[in-house]
Amino acid sequence: QLVDLEKAFQAKIDQEIKIEPKDWMPDAYRKTNIRQISQHAHSEVIGMLPEGNWISRAPSLKRKAILIAKVQDEAGHGLYLYSAAETLGMSREQMTEDLLSGKAKYSSIFNYPTLTWADMGAIGWLVDGAAILNQVMLCRTSYGPYARANVRICKEESFHQRQGFETLMVLSQGTPEQKAMCQDAINRWWWPALMMFGPTDSESTNSDTSIKWKIKRKTNDELRQQFVDMAVQQVKVLGMTLPDPDLKWNEERQHYDFGEINWTEFWNVVKGNGPCNKQRLDAKKKAHEEGAWVRAAAVAHAQKKAARTTQ
Ligand code: ACO
Repeated sequence: QLVDLEKAFQAKIDQEIKIEPKDWMPDAYRKTNIRQISQHAHSEVIGMLPEGNWISRAPSLKRKAILIAKVQDEAGHGLYLYSAAETLGMSREQMTEDLLSGKAKYSSIFNYPTLTWADMGAIGWLVDGAAILNQVMLCRTSYGPYARANVRICKEESFHQRQGFETLMVLSQGTPEQKAMCQDAINRWWWPALMMFGPTDSESTNSDTSIKWKIKRKTNDELRQQFVDMAVQQVKVLGMTLPDPDLKWNEERQHYDFGEINWTEFWNVVKGNGPCNKQRLDAKKKAHEEGAWVRAAAVAHAQKKAARTTQ
C-alpha cells in the first residue's frame, strides 16, 4: 500500500500538481522540505546582521532609508518561510532552538564580514543576485506553501539586487578611492557568492532526490553557471573586473569557464569555522534572550484574548 501511495505521489509531482500541507507525502519529502525551508529562513534572518552593521553608518539619509527597508524585507522573508515550514509540522520554537544550538545550517555567505560601505552594494548585487536565481527556481518548487512564499520573496529580492548594483554604479563613477573600494568589495564577495549555490553536483548529497521530487528544479552547478554568465556581463557595465584569471568564454559549451572554488574554505565555513560564524550566532542568541519578554507578552495577550472570546 505504501508503494501505491508513493507512486500516486510521484505521479502528482510529474504532472506538476503542487503538494499541499494535508496531502500524503513520504517522510523523507517532509524532512527534506523542513530542512531546506528552515535553513532558508535562518539565512534570511542571520542575513540581516552583516547589513545591519551599516545602518548607522550609511553615507546619506536616502541610503539609510533604503538599507533599513531592505533589512526589514529580509525579516519578512524569514517569517514567510518559517510559516511555510510550520505547515509541515515543525514548530517555530524547535527551528529557533536548532539554529541557536548550531544544529541547523544557514547560508555560508553570511559568515563573512562587511568591512566597507561598498560591501552593501556587493551584497545587493552578488549575494542577492545569487539568491534570486535560486529563488526564481524555487517559485516552481513542488511544495505549495514554499513555492508561494518564494514568489513574494523574489519580488522584493529583485529590488534588493537593483539597489546593490546602483550603489556600486555610483561608487564606480566616483573618486579613485571610491572606485578602489568598489573593486575591493567585488573581489572579496565574488568567491563566497559562488559558494552560495552549494557543493559541486557530484558532492551534493541531497540533489538527486530533491530533483526527483522537484523540490529543486536545477542543480547547484547549473545555477552557479547561470550566475557566472550573468555577472560577467554586468561587471562590464560597472567598469570593474571579477577576481578570476580563468574566466573565459567557452564557445563549445556556450558558457563562461571559471576557476576552481576553494572547497576547503567552503566546508570550513559550513562547519562553523568561518570568519564570523561565532559572532553571528552570539548576536542571534543575545537578541533571542533579550526578546524573551516580547514572546511572553504575546502569549499572555493571546491567552487573554482567547479567554474573552470563549466567555
Ligand atoms: N551554506 C551552508 N550550507 C550549505 C550551502 C551553503 N551555501 N550549500 C549547501 N550547504 C549544505 C546543505 O545544507 C547540505 O547540508 P545538510 O544535508 O546538512 O542540510 C550540504 O551542504 C550538502 O549540500 P546539498 O546536498 O547540495 O544541499 P541542498 O540540496 O539543500 O542544496 C541549496 C543547497 C542550493 C542551498 C538549497 O538548500 C537551497 O536551494 N536552499 C534554499 C535557498 C537558500 O537557503 N538560500 C539561502 C541564501 S539566500 C538569502 O537568504 C538571501
